[in-house]
Amino acid sequence: MYGRNVMKIAENVYWVGIRDWNRRIFDALIPLPKGTTYNAYLIIGRNGKALIDTVNPGFEKDLEDKIRNLVNPEEIDYIVMNHAEPDHAGAIPHMMRIASKAKLITTAMGAKMAQVYYHTPQERIRIVADNDVISLGDKSLRFIEAPMLHWPETMFTYLEEDGILFSCDFFGAHVASGAYSDEVEDLLVHAQRYWGEIMMPFRTLAQRALEKIASLNIKTIAPSHGPIHRKPEPILGAYRRWATGETRPKATIAYVSMWGSTDAMVKQMAETLASEGIELAFHNLLVTDVGDLAKDLVDSRAVVLGAPTVLGGAHPLAVYAAYLFKALRPPTKFAVILSSYGWGGGAVRQIQEVLKDFKFKDVDVLEVNGPPTEEIMRQIAEMGKSLADKIKENV
Ligand code: FEO
Repeated sequence: MYGRNVMKIAENVYWVGIRDWNRRIFDALIPLPKGTTYNAYLIIGRNGKALIDTVNPGFEKDLEDKIRNLVNPEEIDYIVMNHAEPDHAGAIPHMMRIASKAKLITTAMGAKMAQVYYHTPQERIRIVADNDVISLGDKSLRFIEAPMLHWPETMFTYLEEDGILFSCDFFGAHVASGAYSDEVEDLLVHAQRYWGEIMMPFRTLAQRALEKIASLNIKTIAPSHGPIHRKPEPILGAYRRWATGETRPKATIAYVSMWGSTDAMVKQMAETLASEGIELAFHNLLVTDVGDLAKDLVDSRAVVLGAPTVLGGAHPLAVYAAYLFKALRPPTKFAVILSSYGWGGGAVRQIQEVLKDFKFKDVDVLEVNGPPTEEIMRQIAEMGKSLADKIKENV
């Protein structure tokens, strides 16, 4: 057997993860244009060995082989399940079979999930609470509960002596290449996309988690997706901005058009905003990558939704975008809904119904019959100027 690639990240601490270069979709929802990784880590202490998370189903043997490069996997004492989602916990049954004396370390809620998802016997689970520590002799693992980042059972593991935070999904990026984040071009763009897709709905809990880890001496952040942050400040700074909902003078336009009327309306709005110095992200919902759309919503101060009428309601792609917006809960302050109809309206009403619980500071709407006239285009330009003023005033 040839040696499987492992990577030393500190003395007796190794990355034993998997690079899934060809994965293109996650949760049947999130496109992965750059693939992803499932990072697992092996810690070899003087008096004990711990595996931090595992990998996606299908890669069990690869993980086992990587560990065999370093130690006999039967000697593992602890398998830490920071998060129960199968992309990290899917190889737990395999590893628990091989490491037959190992205990599964997880939160109380994680213990229930391990039994439901992975049929882990109760007597092989050790439940840990916030700030509990397990010693491996010269290495100490501190557990930090991080609910909803990304599931309710999630926790982080902090390796005290080396200052490594194993943060599971938090601080991750769906990028298969690169060992360290400072080696990956545009890593923060990928991280922003990932934040928009996965963490943005839980901004308050993310802020709480950032406060919890603020007192730790973090030298390295080792997430479960994407490269390791050996210089943690850029990703920590970005997470602080995103978690507090800091926005920029930027508008995201998301639209679909059937016969060109809504297209003309949103382009008039886009031209006006661009002339007023507003940064724009322009998404035709027919072809756009929803991950890119999520990324742009992270720091946009306004959203413009173009939703034509079809069959008495909004076009399904516009309904999808509005629903996604509601689910992702971006910090957007202002909205404009532009719509056209042939013989009867209904699209604006339906979009407003989807977004009714969202706390915008201001929502402006325009619903027109047929192609927009010169007068309508003037009206949209006025709406655009007014929106630009609001965006610039609300720094
Ligand atoms: Fe990467 Fe929530 O699993």
